[in-house]
Amino acid sequence: MSTLLHIKGLKKYYPIIGGIFKRKMADVKAVDGVNLTIMKGECFGLVGESGCGKTTLGKTIIRLLTPDAGSIYYNIPEDILEEIDKLEKENPRSSKLRRIREEYDLATFKGRKLRQLRRKMQIVYQDPTTSLDPRMLVKDIVAEPLVAQGLARGSEAKKMVVDMLERVGLSEKHLCRYPHEFSGGQRQRIAVSRALIVRPEFVVLDEPTSSVDVSVRAQLLNLFKDLGKDFGLTYMFVSHDLSVVEVISDRVAVMYLGKIVEVATTEELFKEPLHPYAQGLFASIPIPDPTRRRERPPLTGDVPSPVNPPSGCRFHPRCQSVTDVCRKEEPQLVDVGNGHLVACHVISSELGK
Ligand SMILES: Nc1ncnc2c1ncn2[C@@H]1O[C@H](COP(=O)(O)OP(=O)(O)OP(=O)(O)O)[C@@H](O)[C@H]1O
Ligand SMILES: [Mg+2]
Repeated sequence: MSTLLHIKGLKKYYPIIGGIFKRKMADVKAVDGVNLTIMKGECFGLVGESGCGKTTLGKTIIRLLTPDAGSIYYNIPEDILEEIDKLEKENPRSSKLRRIREEYDLATFKGRKLRQLRRKMQIVYQDPTTSLDPRMLVKDIVAEPLVAQGLARGSEAKKMVVDMLERVGLSEKHLCRYPHEFSGGQRQRIAVSRALIVRPEFVVLDEPTSSVDVSVRAQLLNLFKDLGKDFGLTYMFVSHDLSVVEVISDRVAVMYLGKIVEVATTEELFKEPLHPYAQGLFASIPIPDPTRRRERPPLTGDVPSPVNPPSGCRFHPRCQSVTDVCRKEEPQLVDVGNGHLVACHVISSELGK
């Protein structure tokens, strides 16, 4: 499998404006130095408590938000990636590195290049009631991205819309209806057609099933799986709901306070999460084997403010295994075997990494 996205040191801060002069007082560090690799054709799950920066990360990757720092390399050949690593270490100001970044790094894209990129990367939001314009007919909602991108108009666009609606389980008879005339599940299908009509390569699904009931959720998950295969899509699937993530994802990343703390295959992570935060998050899932004692301590305390994240490891004030080094030094993601990455001093020293 080859790499579709290689994300390095990505940061997105939201300024807090205040005082009588409306000056910037501080920053909400929503995404604060994220490193990730997403492979072509995989469904990459992203989990973490509310407010840890999942939506901000998804939106920044597809450049709906402008990053404050870092790189988002898209469709980049492996040998060039190696060259970047080398140049960043040896000669970070070189013109060669600048040229490579201009060609592959989405963080540097502007104007026409950014507009072209919009087609390749789409997002489906949690709540289709607010993401679909209530005054537009379905045929216009779904055709809008086609027309805006100059890809098709008139009868050609209409045919593409009907094809797409049929693909997601709706039909021609739904063309001249408004969003409020549909159920929640059907509305999400309309949102999916709108995202896929421009034939994207990468789709962020941001809690796409959390506004529907369990049976509709299962139908939507099957739809995402089928469409992913048929259209050769790569997904980033964001959710709090671990059972949903388990069903659909190939690999999963755990995010905490603007950082990725663990990445592994779904099977491995659900069987044995290693990071103390991931263990706490997964403690809510029942262990199927009754002879196994529950060793995972549940999460206690609240998530600290992303304006002033704790020093060292951000999880240390809530961690039951905390040591001195955790308070001082920020842990980096380390491969503990088979591409299973963990950012934790305690785990690294236990495993001799
Ligand atoms: N437009 C904004 N302006 C200022 N702060 C924001 C903005 N959007 C998000 N934030 C803050 O950034 C942090 C991350 O928010 P984000 O929505 O990315 O989290 P999330 O993990 O998607 O949460 P949830 O699971 O609740 O959707 C939060 O502290 C949030 O309050
Ligand atoms: Mg969110």
